Amino acid sequence: MMNEEAFSNRRVLITGGVGFIGSNLARRLVDLNAQVTLVDSLIPEYGGNLFNVAGLEDRLRINIADVRDPHSMDYLVQGQDYLFNLAGQTSHMDSMQDPYADLEINCRAQLSILEACRRRNPQIKIVFASTRQIYGKPDYLPVDEKHLLRPVDVNGINKMAGEHYHILYNNAYGIPACALRLTNTIGPRMRVKDARQTFLGIWIRLVIEGKPFEVWDGGQMRDFTYVDDAVEALLLAAASKEANGQVFNLGSEQAIDLKGLAELLVEINGGGEFSARSFPSDRKVIDIGDYYGDFSRIRSCLGWEPRVSLREGLATTLAFYRQYLTHYL
Ligand SMILES: NC(=O)c1ccc[n+]([C@@H]2O[C@H](COP(=O)([O-])OP(=O)(O)OC[C@H]3O[C@@H](n4cnc5c(N)ncnc54)[C@H](O)[C@@H]3O)[C@@H](O)[C@H]2O)c1
Repeated sequence: MMNEEAFSNRRVLITGGVGFIGSNLARRLVDLNAQVTLVDSLIPEYGGNLFNVAGLEDRLRINIADVRDPHSMDYLVQGQDYLFNLAGQTSHMDSMQDPYADLEINCRAQLSILEACRRRNPQIKIVFASTRQIYGKPDYLPVDEKHLLRPVDVNGINKMAGEHYHILYNNAYGIPACALRLTNTIGPRMRVKDARQTFLGIWIRLVIEGKPFEVWDGGQMRDFTYVDDAVEALLLAAASKEANGQVFNLGSEQAIDLKGLAELLVEINGGGEFSARSFPSDRKVIDIGDYYGDFSRIRSCLGWEPRVSLREGLATTLAFYRQYLTHYL
């Protein structure tokens, strides 16, 4: 169980805080009575959306700034007890088309955030949002944290470097930091406008709009985390000294292939259509094939396990977008 006292009246900075996972985390932290500041650049191609924090305006602070700006970060990290470092460029395709933007945000800015902490606030506890993408094509399943890191795209390489910088600053400078290797995360406030954050976003949008969506190949296995479970893992990692210097996979009890996922989505929606096609060639080269993770390390070390089933998570997400889709288009 999470020590909720760990956050009461504590100062918390969330980079990428107006995005999908960051805003869900912010909602939880505000309820835990934390003093929350969000930093987000609101670049339109990414998942930041002010509607994500609607209703919270009086309960937290929002600083529209870019984590690539070292002067902003130098100022913002001061006096904070926790940093949830979630700002990132998340699109794998965009990282191939504009590798330098991905490098600047997911790699260089991570180093400068850590430098800001080293200079201005070395006591701050940092939790970094890493990704299962850094493993590349799995050699075995389920993938545990000992698996080789062999990313298949620019995004994976830069996220891997970002993660390693955090562990390095923990080990070399004693700045308490750890990383969660998140897998496909779903839930209210995810980006559904297009497939930049996840293919499931565009599936959800189209199925609600009554339009057919496409499933590429369909045989690939994946695991999914409901966003409340991801938030719980972030909080557990932040509150635990044992987590410092460690990396943890998240995962699910249930892996599913994408065709099965499409069928489940249509069933829960009460209707919808999809067509199967082969991968576009530019996507095929960066596909990781089958993936699902072994999350026994975080279960034994921090007591985390997923509580929300895929079916329940999809149902809640669909219900959210049936009500609020226009805010996300
Ligand atoms: N959603 C997933 O399935 C998933 C899976 C693995 C890892 N992650 C990681 O989790 C983190 C959060 O992802 P998310 O799904 O909430 O995506 P998201 O796009 O909704 O959130 C990222 C936020 O970062 C902000 N941002 C991007 N560049 C910035 C910059 N230069 N300066 C300031 N803010 C900037 C965006 O505006 C956005 O609000 C990311 O680092 C991502 O790599 C997410």
